[in-house]
Amino acid sequence: MWKTAHEHILKLTVYEPGKPVEELARDLGLREEEIIKLASNENPLGPSPKALEAMRRTLERSHFYPDGGGYELRGAVAHRLGLGMTRENIVLGNGSNEIIEFIGHAFFRPGDEVVVARHSFAVYKLMAQLFGAETVEVPDPGYTADLDAMLAAITPKTRTVFIANPNNPTGTMVGQEAIDRFMAKVPDHVLVVFDEAYHEFLDEKVAPDVLPYVREGRNVVVMRTFSKIMGLANLRIGYGITTPELAAVLQRTRQPFNANGIAQAGALAGLLDEEHMRKTRELTHEGREYLETAFAAIGLEYVPSVANFVLVKVGDGNAVFQAMLRKGIILRAMGSYGLPEWIRISVGTMDQNRRCIEELREVLKK
Ligand SMILES: Cc1ncc(COP(=O)(O)O)c(C=O)c1O
Repeated sequence: MWKTAHEHILKLTVYEPGKPVEELARDLGLREEEIIKLASNENPLGPSPKALEAMRRTLERSHFYPDGGGYELRGAVAHRLGLGMTRENIVLGNGSNEIIEFIGHAFFRPGDEVVVARHSFAVYKLMAQLFGAETVEVPDPGYTADLDAMLAAITPKTRTVFIANPNNPTGTMVGQEAIDRFMAKVPDHVLVVFDEAYHEFLDEKVAPDVLPYVREGRNVVVMRTFSKIMGLANLRIGYGITTPELAAVLQRTRQPFNANGIAQAGALAGLLDEEHMRKTRELTHEGREYLETAFAAIGLEYVPSVANFVLVKVGDGNAVFQAMLRKGIILRAMGSYGLPEWIRISVGTMDQNRRCIEELREVLKK
């Protein structure tokens, strides 16, 4: 039977997630508390206390199906975005990853092309493959997406351009000017997806604003998530912001209860916890500066980051990843991104960052 599965499914690359803490604890016979995970750009402070409280309350109501339409959360997200946004602009996903899948369901056909930067988030390519579309990878000099080159890569077959901003795994971003130049020329048959999973880590002064394109009714989807600054990665909840017409199409592709009620309650409370977001942002800035300064002191090349992780060149990335695992520290090897000499380190608490650098120095000495 299995051989009769769609050919493109049989060829599908499997996503390599960060190694779970539980797995390393089993492998090394350690307690979970002894392990430091800096592998998946999670929030080292955990969820907001307000989100935790709301989720505990909702746990008692686990026997009820959730509000499949996400009425309250979509309304709160729209309210926060302001200026003419309503819940009709918002689609909830089981993580923002699911929004990528909705886009695939709605728009990708075999033979279509999907344009991405060479070193951008792996799931775009996986979703293109899932629906039989081709991924066109555009060189990203200096590990930053080159929007002029991405524009030049558009053909009549192009369905979607994915722009992760800030980008994972490089931690770089494209600015407003480059975005506006791109948007002025991108043809109408192309859906532009701005993946803003790390948007909230940006300094307000430099953060590009692409929401005006949604308000103007352009073919744009903006993706955001509660997994990163909100610390709710385990709950799997994210959202797309788009025109009411495109949102209505994406809504048709989702399962009736794709965003569970505990996640919705946590997200709703977390969204209002400015204090937790501010603390996370500050910790991230401090930790990122510490890591980048330490890399420079060790003599390691790194890509200056605007997000909550840093890409650093260590020689044999997989060997360093393995050696750090044996010390109870989970980082991310970058071989699957075509960067075998690099590892990606998420910013942790200052204690975690310090231990990570200490152990990294030891590993690199050997
Ligand atoms: C650029 C980018 N987009 C989307 C996601 C998916 O996040 P989630 O599905 O947890 O919302 C990630 C997760 O690492 C990411 O780095």
